[in-house]
Amino acid sequence: MEQNERGVWGSRLGFILAAAGSAIGLGNIWRYPYVVGENGGAAFVLVYVTCVLVIGLPVLIAELSLGRRTTLNPVGAFRSLSNSKAWPWVGYLGVATGVGILSFYLVIAGWTLGYIVRTLIPTTEDFTQFVANPVEELGYFLGFLCLTVIVVLGGVEKGIERWSKFLMPALFVLLLSLISYNLTLEGSSAGVEFYLKPDFSKIHGSTILAALGQAFFSLSLGMGTMITYGSYISKRENIPVSATAVVLSDTLIALLAGLMIFPALFSVGMEPSQGPALVFNVLPRVFELMPGGAFIGLAFFVLLAIAALTSTVSLLEVPVAFLVDERKWSRKKAVSIIAAATFVVGIPSALSQGSSELLTTMQVAGQTGFLSLMSHLFSNLSLPIGGFFVCIFVGWVWGTKNAVEEIKLGTGETAQRIFWGWELLVKYVCPLTILIVFLNIFGVFG
Ligand code: TRP
Repeated sequence: MEQNERGVWGSRLGFILAAAGSAIGLGNIWRYPYVVGENGGAAFVLVYVTCVLVIGLPVLIAELSLGRRTTLNPVGAFRSLSNSKAWPWVGYLGVATGVGILSFYLVIAGWTLGYIVRTLIPTTEDFTQFVANPVEELGYFLGFLCLTVIVVLGGVEKGIERWSKFLMPALFVLLLSLISYNLTLEGSSAGVEFYLKPDFSKIHGSTILAALGQAFFSLSLGMGTMITYGSYISKRENIPVSATAVVLSDTLIALLAGLMIFPALFSVGMEPSQGPALVFNVLPRVFELMPGGAFIGLAFFVLLAIAALTSTVSLLEVPVAFLVDERKWSRKKAVSIIAAATFVVGIPSALSQGSSELLTTMQVAGQTGFLSLMSHLFSNLSLPIGGFFVCIFVGWVWGTKNAVEEIKLGTGETAQRIFWGWELLVKYVCPLTILIVFLNIFGVFG
């Protein structure tokens, strides 16, 4: 028997949709535009797309093959393929990162819920007042955490796969309609220029790190999500083809989200570098201008909430799979304990948008506010570090020969040359690039 009782995806398309569901989320529609805005626009977009193709895609294939070979969570996967006691620590880092990312991601996901409720029950409170209200912030954060828990308790197939199926096409169509509307707004062409006309003087070491971090974040890489999801796929699955489909759809949605936001942003005369509140400040203004905007805004935030849910589920799934496999906890116990820990860790993020003066204005590592700091630390540092070790492990410890053997189970005789290119990327190009970006940030090159 090739699969065990841990669960397995119900179908080929089911897996691609679930992996794309994990990848596509607030990272594309909330984080990507604000990071592009902070890093100067079009030139950053080019660096980002390069990172996605040259580093993201090979690392995604590496994580999926590691998961499928071992059918284990990240900690178990590293442990089972090496004798060293050090490697499982990459898995532990992933488990901790899962809780860390989830803790601030759920706060933003809570904003989508808040937006939905505020459309249905109109209030006079504007968005800035909404995010500065501690009761609402913590309430919606907790609400979204509960939704995530309900889905994860349902298990792999029924819980996760079912949710992923209808979302993408709907989100895609809505994005296209919003783009065509926003491009007609007065003054929108300045936004198109900001987003599409590169000014290379804006690229620095920190820009490249931000692009790399965003690539890892958006593709759900570097913390074992894709190892865990890979552990639920069948040997017949064609990993390179599925990975390419996930990368292309995720990148397309992000690129479109930028095209939706920047024309509107310039049209209403707002600042591109305003940070995490960007989309939530711009979009409501657009919906006010638009005929039928209240309804469209509602539809948009409902879809965004579902997109966020398929991502929070994949984040929670990593620590849960770890506790279930390695510590033999019941699924229920694992989910409750991780959820409680996440809530506690997330409290400062929830209070960092105006509720607490200190958490809102603190300046650390070039970031303003606790939530931005969490988003920076976990995405730009923890994920690329995890990705670096995945490359070293697959490239040099488990070995690309073994990995290719695993990957080939689903690809037939096709693509010898492709494997050769992949080996080169995983062994040399990806880890060296990540290393250089880090050394540069820490000032090694002066
Ligand atoms: N990729 C998701 C998004 O873009 C977020 C996410 C889910 C994630 N699982 C992850 C990010 C694992 C990093 C690692 O919204």
